[in-house]
Amino acid sequence: MIGNKIIKFKTLDSTNKYIKEHIFELESGSIVITDFQTNGYGRLSRTWFDTDLMNLTFSFLLRQKVNSHTTLISQLVGAAIIKALEELNIDANIKWPNDILVNNKKVAGILIESKILQDDIYLIVGIGLNVNSTTFDQTIEHKATSLKNETNITYNLDEVLNTIVTHLNYFVDNFNRSDHSFLDVCRSKNALLNKEVTIESTQEKAIVVGIDDDGSLIVLIKNKRIKYFGSEITLSNSYNALGDNYGKNN
Ligand code: BTN
Repeated sequence: MIGNKIIKFKTLDSTNKYIKEHIFELESGSIVITDFQTNGYGRLSRTWFDTDLMNLTFSFLLRQKVNSHTTLISQLVGAAIIKALEELNIDANIKWPNDILVNNKKVAGILIESKILQDDIYLIVGIGLNVNSTTFDQTIEHKATSLKNETNITYNLDEVLNTIVTHLNYFVDNFNRSDHSFLDVCRSKNALLNKEVTIESTQEKAIVVGIDDDGSLIVLIKNKRIKYFGSEITLSNSYNALGDNYGKNN
């Protein structure tokens, strides 16, 4: 169960890094959380900015059997965050594969790292959610938001964490019974649907038409349906929209 053990630090360089360094001492489900993350990182080594006692920065360890569709986990986590925010009356979308947006600005990022050992895959799932921060680093202030910025409400961090963990456990239980209905949440909250995107690696233009059962993004390139597993996609003609390049080191 996620949250069966919670290890809390006042400050920590990175909760993902901590789990990686203690991976064999921690049981599956353990959460590592810090009041202030000093050297958080996202995909492509981008900086994840934090402010002391303002936001949620945590990671958990999930051990699964290799081969159990673990590529779906980032969609599962995205769906859990969306459902948790829904409980707080906040309408959020997912920008595939793992950015959570509110009003087209990035409010949360998910970083999943993994290590395979024999039959087991150890997933280190990191979540950064801007909760009560109202100012952001100038490199991201035009594309980042927080729950407080959107609602004017100051949130209790423990309550927000509990809500997310409840939804995570619900979807992980489903996942372990091969119920992937969390994908329906991602489909109905797909920020990229019908948008033109550019596949970074090839610079091809594509139209997003859906999310497949394996969690891949389905795009149309020159009228051909293609499943896309890569992660770098930018929206065409809308630089800065939808949280693109959030936190990139400049
Ligand atoms: C991204 O947007 O690229 C993902 C950002 C993930 C940030 C979280 S905060 C908790 C955990 N620890 C880290 O160093 N990163 C993740």
